[in-house]
Amino acid sequence: MIIQPVASLNGTLPIPGDKSISHRSIMFGSIAEGETRIYNFLMGDDCLSTIRCFRQLGVDIEIGPESIVVKGKGLYGLTPANEILDCGNSGTTTRLLAGILAGQPFTSTLTGDASIQKRPMNRIMIPLQEMHAKISGQEERFCPLTLTPSTLTGIHYNSPVSSAQVKSSILLAGLYADSPVTVCEPSISRDHTERMLQAFGVHIEQEGKCVTLHPGNKLSGREVIVPGDISSAAFFMVAGLIVPNSKLTLKNVGINPTRRGLLDALIQMGGRITCVNERELCGEAVCDMIVESSTLKGITIGGDIIPTMIDEIPAFAVASLFAEGTTIIQDAKELRVKESNRIDAMTDELTKMGAHVTAKEDGLIIEGGHPLQGASFESYHDHRIAMSLAVAALMASSPSEIANSECVRISYPHFFEDLKDLAMYE
Ligand code: S3P
Repeated sequence: MIIQPVASLNGTLPIPGDKSISHRSIMFGSIAEGETRIYNFLMGDDCLSTIRCFRQLGVDIEIGPESIVVKGKGLYGLTPANEILDCGNSGTTTRLLAGILAGQPFTSTLTGDASIQKRPMNRIMIPLQEMHAKISGQEERFCPLTLTPSTLTGIHYNSPVSSAQVKSSILLAGLYADSPVTVCEPSISRDHTERMLQAFGVHIEQEGKCVTLHPGNKLSGREVIVPGDISSAAFFMVAGLIVPNSKLTLKNVGINPTRRGLLDALIQMGGRITCVNERELCGEAVCDMIVESSTLKGITIGGDIIPTMIDEIPAFAVASLFAEGTTIIQDAKELRVKESNRIDAMTDELTKMGAHVTAKEDGLIIEGGHPLQGASFESYHDHRIAMSLAVAALMASSPSEIANSECVRISYPHFFEDLKDLAMYE
């Protein structure tokens, strides 16, 4: 994909459905009783992997033009898959599905693409084994994972990482346990599982940084309206701030408190982003964002805000290239185990443009204000790297090329078309 520098960005953009919430709507709909109808579902490759897996487990899922209908099988109605379950590039599918499969009375094997096969699965295997799940993997930490039937017990788990995928995997296994499960994390990660399970009728309690699920309730199918994904809006939030003479209206963006870190960080940098028309959609806060070109200043981010913007840090790094002074991102070691090593990927690629970026074990140091030229980028087959680099390229002095850019299909299939529609060229 070739990205031309732009003069301005203007217009209104409906933001595609939230990836995390889309996955959960299929999963919870599948193990609920009755029908779940989902609107604004994200038709990205990751969520299609979740649909494919649950169809393999015997669930009837109809994809219509307006909505998706999941014919729930109840907690004990899934049937064994004939083949290995292929989770594609999706960590959410792999880890959450493993939690559900741990409680099934049949054996399953799940795996994914080359990236998934390198990502750490011991972070879910350890707590699931503590619940007496029988789960094995390659070198005790990698996919393919095989789960065989067992009787699950409740646990109190102090997670060493703030990860919604770990938390959700344990909570979902907890639906099949003989007593409550509690998960505590160092900083609170996204809470879509807790919100949606409650909406489906599960007894969940939140206290500080701990969440407890009480087994015993069935899930009841319902309507889900998926809010726009702030992780997809992120690229346009940053682009609208850094490109001069720009004004964008981003419609229907989810601003759940456990997801809005990027919004808060950009405002702290001096970014002019206003949330209007704040409302609630199926238990999730949403707003329309108005983003205007801004003068930004460097800041330091770390600690509790990091999990609330973990997927947006590559885009945030791009914003900081245009901020006055130095931006420091710390406590973000998790970026090294995402779809790619996002600390090294952003450092290597932005450096090609002339940016001053230093990789740290747990983050990045970025000196803003250096002139940037176009470059030949590698996406590392990582959707968020490809889209972040595309935003940086808008402000380069010459065109850029992004190799393997089709990976945007994972979370935002029409990203490049949307970008083009808003752009005014010199
Ligand atoms: C997700 C959780 C996050 C995030 C991922 C989606 C989820 O991962 O990076 O894109 O849907 O639960 P971790 O839980 O590993 O931080």
